[in-house]
Amino acid sequence: GKVAVILGGNSAEREVSLMSGGGVLEALQSRGVDAHAFDPKDKPLSALKEEGFDRVFLILHGPGGEDGTIQGALEFLGVPYTGCGVMASALGMDKLRTKLIWQALGLPIPAFELVDEHSDFDAIEQKLGLPLFVKPATEGSSIGVTKVKTAGGLKAAYEEARKYDRLVLAEAFVGGGEYTAPVLGDAVNGYTVLPMIKIEPATEFYDYQAKYFRDDTVYHCPCGLSADKEATIASLVKKAFWAIGGESWGRVDFLMDEAGNPYLLEVNTAPGMTSHSLFPMGARAVGMDYADIVLKILDTTL
Ligand code: DAL
Ligand code: MG
Repeated sequence: GKVAVILGGNSAEREVSLMSGGGVLEALQSRGVDAHAFDPKDKPLSALKEEGFDRVFLILHGPGGEDGTIQGALEFLGVPYTGCGVMASALGMDKLRTKLIWQALGLPIPAFELVDEHSDFDAIEQKLGLPLFVKPATEGSSIGVTKVKTAGGLKAAYEEARKYDRLVLAEAFVGGGEYTAPVLGDAVNGYTVLPMIKIEPATEFYDYQAKYFRDDTVYHCPCGLSADKEATIASLVKKAFWAIGGESWGRVDFLMDEAGNPYLLEVNTAPGMTSHSLFPMGARAVGMDYADIVLKILDTTL
């Protein structure tokens, strides 16, 4: 049947989604799938029915596309789509609720504090230590994220994050490296974790430029952890994805401390699929090229 690649949208990650979606569309077409771009910025979702689409590859990033709203609309229209359902999408987009669930299950996360305009900024800096990260709870691609390195910097970082969300988090720094784990599957059929990737940005942290535009970000896959360690972390990643109700595909980001302990950061329920993105790197490590993994994700709608 006819497949709509839903891309673009209205979030701050629109440009990233256009890059991801362009890649997905080209990959599907290269494998003979009758796929077409569909940007909800241009037309109402109900046009999917009128135009005869019977499946959706959902590659919108950020609020409005990755947070359960469009998933709910697609459920209502009765059109199958890739990726997580309403609940997992909503939870995955919200870093605060994700942390609360993981915390309740005893899964390791970095120490964090909610920040608002009444917060005692100095006390939070003291409690979490410096450097620390400040982020809007519901953004992606590091938009609105600041690494606070000097005392007194939290307030300005809070104000930057506050432009994107009412909910702002301060998070303790964990200094043993930044990693990510692509996941496929669901609770019924089981989850598969693809080879993990270690990210070494040339910048202060893996920010928007480092993610999509700089050519000096270094990626390691295999990630350099021992096979035992990677297997232990893979089961943690499965639990983390399961905990929010994850299905189809997703990517769990985590940090390591110097002693070799993992700390979960967040789940991306519509991971980036740009030429610089991580999910396709993990797939490549097990012999699936970009189009192979795109087809595999599309198959989760069947
Ligand atoms: N939010 C971006 C697209 C990612 O996690 O890959
Ligand atoms: Mg994210």
